Amino acid sequence: MKAIILSGGKGTRLRPLTYSGAKQLVPVANKPILFYCIENIVQVGIKEIGMIIAPETGQEIRDAVGDGSRWGVTIDYIVQDVPGGLAHAIRTARGFLSDSPFVMYLGDNLIGTGIERFLDEFNRSKPEALILLKEVENPKQFGVADVSGNGKVLRLIEKPEVPPSNLALVGIYIFSPKIHDAIDLIKPSGRGELEITDAIQELINMRCNVESFVLDMWWLDTGKKDDLLTANAIVLDEWLKGNISGTVDTASKILGRVSVGRNSVIRGSTIRGPVVIGENTVIENSFIGPHTSIGDNVRIIKSSVEHSVIMNESELRDIERLEESLVGRRVRIVENRKTHKALRLMLGDDSAVEV
Ligand code: G1P
Repeated sequence: MKAIILSGGKGTRLRPLTYSGAKQLVPVANKPILFYCIENIVQVGIKEIGMIIAPETGQEIRDAVGDGSRWGVTIDYIVQDVPGGLAHAIRTARGFLSDSPFVMYLGDNLIGTGIERFLDEFNRSKPEALILLKEVENPKQFGVADVSGNGKVLRLIEKPEVPPSNLALVGIYIFSPKIHDAIDLIKPSGRGELEITDAIQELINMRCNVESFVLDMWWLDTGKKDDLLTANAIVLDEWLKGNISGTVDTASKILGRVSVGRNSVIRGSTIRGPVVIGENTVIENSFIGPHTSIGDNVRIIKSSVEHSVIMNESELRDIERLEESLVGRRVRIVENRKTHKALRLMLGDDSAVEV
């Protein structure tokens, strides 16, 4: 069994963060989303991973992920030169995949469990495709499956006007090599892409066995700011272990599960977990509230932050209260209205500020 992870795409819904970086590398609880995907694949014993990258963000993904040795696996990089769709990505990886069955994992999906049971099901019933489904409230935004009582997939439709069910395709699939024949038969969709949904439908038309597995844990499609903050809160709630490597002075209070990375310093502050703080960060005379992730080399001085993600090298000074915020890298937010009641802003395209 091999795996491919899709790490291309433009990440338009997470702009402006994704102007300067790949959406798969946006951190959740201080770890790139993509790393959770890799760990789930490594955990089931898969040793060969193909990372599908786009020309624009590929180098950044390579730099962050490396050759796989840190997870004890090999990672090959495969450039998809046009954003031609998920089925086109498989076609691009044809040489890497050879005749192996494989897991396909979308690199911006986060699920609240490993994929062992999903893989066991594939090995047990040996279908040509096994798709992971999740009940959702807004099926029109996804690929949707019509499934029989025993989990057999009868029909799939991409972003339907009238969804046949509320079962959305989570971006994790397992295929036998038969999928390549199906991909050869499909045509680009209305949005000009070779859709994996159409290829799987083609397998059904060929009378191949396509089965489904319904996820009973949470699934987060981390495409937007609020989704990302929710993902951050859930991951901190469920997976964070308290661990203080940095220095906390006696005037500070640490409550609940808090992780403070190496060389970070907390002075005169209260940190109420779950909170993760990276390395070389300074928090001074501040309050950090639950569900907050703070990256490396951050400065937070005389400020209060809650339910937020503050990425590397940013600075907050004299900010009375910041909440539900997503702050990118090297951002500076300072209070400057004591004598002068005006806002002074320098914001990139697609920024959003609520004052
Ligand atoms: C893709 C798939 C869709 C699936 C979704 C999951 O959609 O085409 O079937 O439900 O991922 O995230 P896209 O993100 O390309 O709109």
